[in-house]
Amino acid sequence: MNNKKNIKVHETAFVTSTFRSINENLSHDVYAKLWCNARSKELSDIYLNSVSTEEVYTHCLRNRYFLDKIKELISSSKIEVLINFGSGFSMYPFLLDKTLINIEIDKPEIVDYKKNKIEYWQNENVLPNRNIHFIGVDFSKDYVQSLLSKINTITKNKTSFILIEGVLFFLNRTETNTLFQLFETIQNKKGFIGSVSFQKSLKDTVAFKRLLNFMGDKMPELHEDNYQTIENDYYKQRPHYKLIDHQDYFTLSKTYNHQVKLEKDMILNEHFYLLEKTNI
Ligand SMILES: C[S@@+](CC[C@H](N)C(=O)[O-])C[C@H]1O[C@@H](n2cnc3c(N)ncnc32)[C@H](O)[C@@H]1O
Repeated sequence: MNNKKNIKVHETAFVTSTFRSINENLSHDVYAKLWCNARSKELSDIYLNSVSTEEVYTHCLRNRYFLDKIKELISSSKIEVLINFGSGFSMYPFLLDKTLINIEIDKPEIVDYKKNKIEYWQNENVLPNRNIHFIGVDFSKDYVQSLLSKINTITKNKTSFILIEGVLFFLNRTETNTLFQLFETIQNKKGFIGSVSFQKSLKDTVAFKRLLNFMGDKMPELHEDNYQTIENDYYKQRPHYKLIDHQDYFTLSKTYNHQVKLEKDMILNEHFYLLEKTNI
């Protein structure tokens, strides 16, 4: 991490982990706190004050929702591999069954840092051992064939859950289409995708305007093209996939008995989609 005023894209992973650590009862991520340090605390405080204090709970519920869904699919023997695209510092491998094969994909600087830290914590008996493969990739570069062959070597056609959360906002539509085509190739016959995105209507809210101001000020290397929103049809119309669940922050708050704190206009409402490969 750097001490400069600007925030790098990969540093957003520290902020997300800090939010998840603030309410472990809600996130069920008991390991997120390992990533907290002075810089992550500083960044998350700046972000919460500049954008929306509700962000703590949106991130906790996001983790909880996918954790519970993946647990269900493991229990019913429907998946054997979790492939996390833009995995940041999420800690699913340690919160899920030890038989799961985990593939974590993110920018090289993130996966290298995460791998070292995890090995250290495992040696210190802070974290349990897990089957994790780390792959460094930049989704804005030419990466598909080499990533596909690495993934195939690990999965050997086992059924996977592909997760992409907190990432699509930073990508453009062409990069997103490339990823979803890759997901289909990886999930040859069966599989599930969990995806998170904002909808266009969010752009009218105070919270989104505050987010854009924050981005313009702190992350000037990003531009409008990166602030991607995605409509339901993108998921509903995915060839060979069926949308089997669609939630947002408000529906999950009801499910998990969480009291929403701010007005809707002040909340960055994320949408959560679950797709199943159908081959139809
Ligand atoms: C807000 S964090 C979310 C991390 C994690 N998915 C979570 O929910 O905790 C966004 C992640 O996307 C990754 N990311 C953004 N743009 C990327 C790109 N072009 N290629 C690879 N990873 C990218 C960042 O490095 C970062 O780890």
